[in-house]
Amino acid sequence: MTDRLKIGFTPLNRVRGVLVTFCNEALKFGPATQKALAPIGDLPRRAAAADRFTGKIATALTVIAPPTLATPRLVVIGTGKERDLRDHDLARLGGVVMGGVPATAGEVTVLAEFASGSLKAEQIAQMALGARLRAYRFDRYKTKRKEGDERAEKVELNFACPNPAAAERAWRRVESIADGVVMARDLVNEPANVLYPAEFARRASGLRKLGVAVEVLDITAMRKLGMGALLGVGQGSGHESKLVIMRWNGGKRGANPVAFVGKGVCFDTGGISIKPAAGMEDMKGDMAGAACVVGLMHTLAARKARVNAVGAIGLVENMPGGRAQRPGDIVTSMSGQTIEVINTDAEGRLVLADVLHYVNHRFKPKFMINLATLTGAIMVALGQEYAGLFSNDDKLVERLEKAGKATRERVWPMPLGPEYDKMIDSKFADMKNSAGRWAGSITAAQFLQRFVGKTPWAHLDIAGTALGSPQTDINKSWSSGWGVRLLDQLVADYYER
Ligand code: BES
Ligand code: MN
Ligand code: ZN
Repeated sequence: MTDRLKIGFTPLNRVRGVLVTFCNEALKFGPATQKALAPIGDLPRRAAAADRFTGKIATALTVIAPPTLATPRLVVIGTGKERDLRDHDLARLGGVVMGGVPATAGEVTVLAEFASGSLKAEQIAQMALGARLRAYRFDRYKTKRKEGDERAEKVELNFACPNPAAAERAWRRVESIADGVVMARDLVNEPANVLYPAEFARRASGLRKLGVAVEVLDITAMRKLGMGALLGVGQGSGHESKLVIMRWNGGKRGANPVAFVGKGVCFDTGGISIKPAAGMEDMKGDMAGAACVVGLMHTLAARKARVNAVGAIGLVENMPGGRAQRPGDIVTSMSGQTIEVINTDAEGRLVLADVLHYVNHRFKPKFMINLATLTGAIMVALGQEYAGLFSNDDKLVERLEKAGKATRERVWPMPLGPEYDKMIDSKFADMKNSAGRWAGSITAAQFLQRFVGKTPWAHLDIAGTALGSPQTDINKSWSSGWGVRLLDQLVADYYER
């Protein structure tokens, strides 16, 4: 879904096609840009005045066919005050670059310097990341192209800078991040008739070509392991449940891995506790946690991260039917703990219960982070800006918050505690899977905590951030691919040798 954009790096003196430049709030250009724009004199200033363009960050001014300049179109992008621009600001500006050039642009040259000076290779790579994510669209199922759209498939974005080789090297690493995000977005956007558990497992198996060890467990294997909680959710579906384990060993031999666990409900009808029809189509995205884990494992392997990492995803489809589980059913999880299923629509926690226990038991990870579109209640609490963060480990919270600020995939700490834990005690079993509406996101997290032992653990409730995402400068897609950049940053900052 991404080949409409080709990214390259060129020396400053090689300007071709549409020209993109940057200026600050004083409408000041960098030295190379000043030189390139010298032939048009005060045209940019006059155009800015006519268009009320003030150089505010992430705004754009377009001048068509400026006389005496070879370019068919000059795009000037505001960088604001240019103080303390962070990586995510650079990515955002890259998104604005991509948004500022027309679909028919063909070749584009971005003069990659600011008024305050030239950009580091890493900053240019972040800009390219933003452009790439902005260019993403999911059009696999559009059979009719709009007129003039052919060429939209082929924009060539060349970043002109003093050291293109260094920028190219930085981009090779960052491109792995872009690829991981795109992979996650694609998986989430796919409809559930295409992406059912076996097909999801097949796509995850594609990571083998990057050197990731991938195991796919079927229901027979899961039965042997005693995964009654996960299997109960999938038993009403014609599609067999799967458990996929991915391992990337780029760290010290034998060192305990870090572990990422994803909720992979390929479609969530609610089961017998069926959901209302309105908006139910969005539940094709109830596997966004699993998609993030696969995208992240792709990124870590593609950039050869110096870490041992495990990714595990529980893949099921939650359907009503003659074999579906009923409210009141009691299932036994792999941990031995029993669960009364009060509401078959609280299925994500049942899937995660077995996967978390399995990963903890088998791999003794340094930490486990799970991602799940777990509760509608998290959107009531936080909307779509922050993912809910629940954890038994302050250090992990702090690190995730830092990585969140750096990538702008932000997390907000939510409480856990024995009073909430008590709410999921059951009359008939060790616990129940739903405690009603109050503190809905917290009681879901308490449920998960009963399956992680003493291992440092964090649960990210991404129901608000991963689907139906607010449009940003770096995402125009229904699915955001949320979490790949966050967790890659976490690993890079704290867990690589
Ligand atoms: N997949 C849903 C949560 C969800 C809702 C994700 C909207 C994304 C958008 C989850 O399985 C669910 O149904 N949760 C219930 C739990 C309740 C039955 C205790 C919910 O949030 O209503
Ligand atoms: Mn549900
Ligand atoms: Zn669900």
